[in-house]
Amino acid sequence: MEDTLGRSINYLRISVTDLCNMRCRYCMPEEGIRKKEQNEILSLEEIFQVVKAASELGVNKVRITGGEPLVRKDLLKLIENIASLDAVKDLALTTNGTMLKKYARDLKEAGLKRVNVSLDTLDEGKYREITRGGHLSNVLEGLEEVKRVGLLPLKINVVLIGGFNDSEIREFVQWTAEEPIDVRFIELMPIGQAAGWAKTNFISNNTVKDRIPELMPIYTGDKSSPAKYYRLPNGKGKVGLINPISSHFCKYCNRMRLTADGRLKPCLHSNEEIDVKLALRNGVRDLKQLMEQAILEKPAQHTLNDQDNKPIYRDMFRIGG
Ligand code: GTP
Ligand code: 5AD
Ligand code: SF4
Repeated sequence: MEDTLGRSINYLRISVTDLCNMRCRYCMPEEGIRKKEQNEILSLEEIFQVVKAASELGVNKVRITGGEPLVRKDLLKLIENIASLDAVKDLALTTNGTMLKKYARDLKEAGLKRVNVSLDTLDEGKYREITRGGHLSNVLEGLEEVKRVGLLPLKINVVLIGGFNDSEIREFVQWTAEEPIDVRFIELMPIGQAAGWAKTNFISNNTVKDRIPELMPIYTGDKSSPAKYYRLPNGKGKVGLINPISSHFCKYCNRMRLTADGRLKPCLHSNEEIDVKLALRNGVRDLKQLMEQAILEKPAQHTLNDQDNKPIYRDMFRIGG
């Protein structure tokens, strides 16, 4: 289905939980968050109803996110159900990677196609610091398992943080010389815990191009992808730059979001929400009509760069990235 600006909405991102087994400093408060009661979040059956309705409206790409999606009980069953929908051609998961060693094979068998793994540093000490106590080896072992079972192509998401990991840009890029993976640098967005971070922590993705001048732009043909892609000469993988701040991609946005507490969000950075949980529990007959309404309410673009930008009251872990 198209929105009022002619953007074709074919991508649904589902946050299945706002809980996470990590506490990244720019994302989660140190003390963690209150676990919601079961009736506060959508059941897996309810999520599936929404996906089914979305697929009938033209959604063919589904991504499971969190918090950390792998902490949600019985997630594999939901993945199996979504994978059984003929309309869904791409079924992926965004994860912190710490539980992949255990779950990669089951995910593959359930019908998941691929994973994007968030990993902000390749240094054990820094990893412990940014995640407040996590172990890098858990993620690295998870990545090995992902490659073994073939949840591919593999993408690594690196949130670029000035003074923290900008010194590792070359090392991350070099990874793509040796392996057929995509490393994507994401500009830190001023939301949630990161809203109060010093300006110096926000560094533009242009830093990557400045530091690695040999990166060559490549054309992927996918305008709705948030990443612009580059390659090292003879690189096996790609380097992606996701610039939500310095050059947003709203004009080509193809996505809708569903939160764990059952709200449809037409835009990551807008407070506009449609309550599907309430509708589902009131026995709504036409879920598709509700989704159409959400699509028609999709804003033209985010306003993060505006002086009078209104704060977004949802944290990133309650939206799913
Ligand atoms: P692919 O399908 O593999 O290209 O994945 P993806 O980039 O759609 O998903 P992923 O969860 O890996 O998202 C990467 C990051 O891009 C997110 O965590 C956000 O930081 C950013 N991002 C994704 N979608 C949007 C969006 O609609 N608006 C903005 N501003 N940023 C987004
Ligand atoms: N800015 C940019 N990316 C963020 N993420 C979480 N918080 C922020 C932020 N403030 C990223 C995670 C993960 C993805 C789902 O969102 O690191 O890669
Ligand atoms: Fe968890 Fe990802 Fe947030 Fe880190 S960034 S606390 S891994 S949801």
